[in-house]
Amino acid sequence: ESTLGAAAAQSGRYFGVAIAANRLSDSTYASIANREFNSVTAENEMKIDATEPQRGQFNFTNADRIYNWAVQNGKEVRGHTLAWHSQQPGWMQSLSGSALRQAMIDHINGVMAHYKGKIAQWDVVNEAFADGSSGARRDSNLERTGSDWIEVAFRTARAADPSAKLCYNDYNVENWTWAKTQAMYRMVKDFKQRGVPIDCVGFQSHFNSGSPYNSNFRTTLQEFAALGVDVAITELDIQGASPTTYAAVVNDCLAVSRCLGVTVWGVRDMDSWRSGDTPLLFNNDGSKKAAYTAVLNAL
Ligand code: XIL
Repeated sequence: ESTLGAAAAQSGRYFGVAIAANRLSDSTYASIANREFNSVTAENEMKIDATEPQRGQFNFTNADRIYNWAVQNGKEVRGHTLAWHSQQPGWMQSLSGSALRQAMIDHINGVMAHYKGKIAQWDVVNEAFADGSSGARRDSNLERTGSDWIEVAFRTARAADPSAKLCYNDYNVENWTWAKTQAMYRMVKDFKQRGVPIDCVGFQSHFNSGSPYNSNFRTTLQEFAALGVDVAITELDIQGASPTTYAAVVNDCLAVSRCLGVTVWGVRDMDSWRSGDTPLLFNNDGSKKAAYTAVLNAL
């Protein structure tokens, strides 16, 4: 195959990319994105601050620019993200307790209703665990509403759109030996045992010198899949874009039948949130990097 999306489709998977609405008018960007990828995530446009800038007033202008571009070009869409401590609008940051809990529920219902039946996977909850060795939840205004906020979010999401796969998504959870990974594992195991509706776990996979790729990532994917959830690599970027590391990540997904696909977090290095790390698959002139070829050959 000659594109990442077509190559991934050979094994029933997708190869996706994060898209920024304001870059779609850049023809180099848009043509690479359309040619190579068959799944799309909005990099920022479906987040809480973008979709509900004032309480109860939803705005899908930029989210729909990405959604419509994706569907018109035959791509599936990962929804990102409904409940998160970051990129909350000011009104939500100032809420607490039962008012914040209700605002979270209303937000999930409002966004999921707009896209009902149209989203392959939703990142229902993003980044709820703390870094480091504690294995604890991250402190946040949402956590302070009660630690059941995560399962409430998933139950709300299931009722709002039963057709979407519901994912928990986080970073620094790729290394099987890390406390954060084990804490996430215990939560998913508990959810499955108690019937809390969760379908998938997203591994962001932002690899750098502080949180490098480790070959036990495959074990992590296998262990979560064995709990009865799908897994996905949702925001892949690798500091320096080592071709061998990119190929290893792809091979880890291919080795796990419940790995749905891989999404890279941007098109060209200049489009990356960490552009100084040159972590992506395309150069700024649109040409393919060595990491691109390594990924294509691995698929
Ligand atoms: C990042 C975007 O790439 C940036 O443009 C934005 O300024 C901050 O958020 N984890 C996530 C993503 O789940 O939503 C983040 O995206 C990167 C880390």
